[in-house]
Amino acid sequence: MAALDGDPRYRAALARECNLLVAENVQKPHALWRGPTTYDFTHTDRLAQFAHDHGQTLRGHTLLWHQSVPRWLQEHENDYSSEALRELLQAYVTAVVRRYRGVITVWDVINEAVEDGETPGLRPESFWYRKLGPDYIAPLFHWAQAADPSARLYYNDYEAEAIGPKSDAIYRLVQDLLARGVPIHGVGLQGHLENGWRLEETHRANVRRLAALGLEWQITEADVRMPLNGAPPTESALAAQADAYGDLLELCLTEPGCQGFVTWGVTDAYSWIPGFRPGWGASLLLDEDFRPKPAYFAIAEALNND
Ligand code: G3I
Repeated sequence: MAALDGDPRYRAALARECNLLVAENVQKPHALWRGPTTYDFTHTDRLAQFAHDHGQTLRGHTLLWHQSVPRWLQEHENDYSSEALRELLQAYVTAVVRRYRGVITVWDVINEAVEDGETPGLRPESFWYRKLGPDYIAPLFHWAQAADPSARLYYNDYEAEAIGPKSDAIYRLVQDLLARGVPIHGVGLQGHLENGWRLEETHRANVRRLAALGLEWQITEADVRMPLNGAPPTESALAAQADAYGDLLELCLTEPGCQGFVTWGVTDAYSWIPGFRPGWGASLLLDEDFRPKPAYFAIAEALNND
């Protein structure tokens, strides 16, 4: 939001390049949920207004995430019984989804609930798992659907693009939710990639098995990071990045069920990568001066040919 408020080049790029917007941070629980039944919609309302003014739709990110538990809740967790917490959570989910009914068309209902590693289950250390038990996910989808029956409701995660232990665990989770009649419509594959990534049969097989369950899917947070160590990106690194982005979009355009392709930011001037992975960066489609990179043209060409 700081860039949206303070940088006219950023506003112009967002208006020009996108037809779907996602808040990077202001829509997470720690930002919206300010007290037991106190919610702060200021930033999301402004984003919704921007989207409306520019004919764009909004993705909601995210109703629940173990990394975004409001501080007041962490500090007072022992003041609430699990039943009281469940009621507060239901009220929160209902209030947020209802407020943006018909405006936010797709919700990441739950983000990154599955562990990493060789035998991943649900993250047992998650606040909500600890407080509500292992079946804390299903009710979220029911509450969200009741609040906006037309919203598409997603499970969203990282490093789940290829077949492997994590995507297998996610597959089992969503399969189980579907079997129990839980209103889940899709899976978000974040797509935080490292330069050199190429599309392989394993990625196709992974999204095909989701589609075979009747689910849709989206690429929800694409970026392709590269090592920089203070130097500008080389031409060959930018060409490899263009290949990676082009491949990821090809997955979306050629396999069944893909309902969206979202990058996690628009310009290298504002990206989470350098802060979280020092020495790495240049991960988006516009460079730090908002000039289109080879990856931008690869995406544009693939979309024009579609
Ligand atoms: O705005 C404050 C600033 O005032 C303060 O000086 C500074 C010092 O720590 O922090 C700034 O806030 C940071 C914020 O990003 C804005 O830059 C937070 O500390 C930092 O935790 C926050 O990181 C975000 C992260 O999620 C955690 O919420 C990243 O921007 C955001 O890109 C990242 O997004 C996640 C998705 O939600 C889920 N998938 C992975 C993805 C990347 O990690």
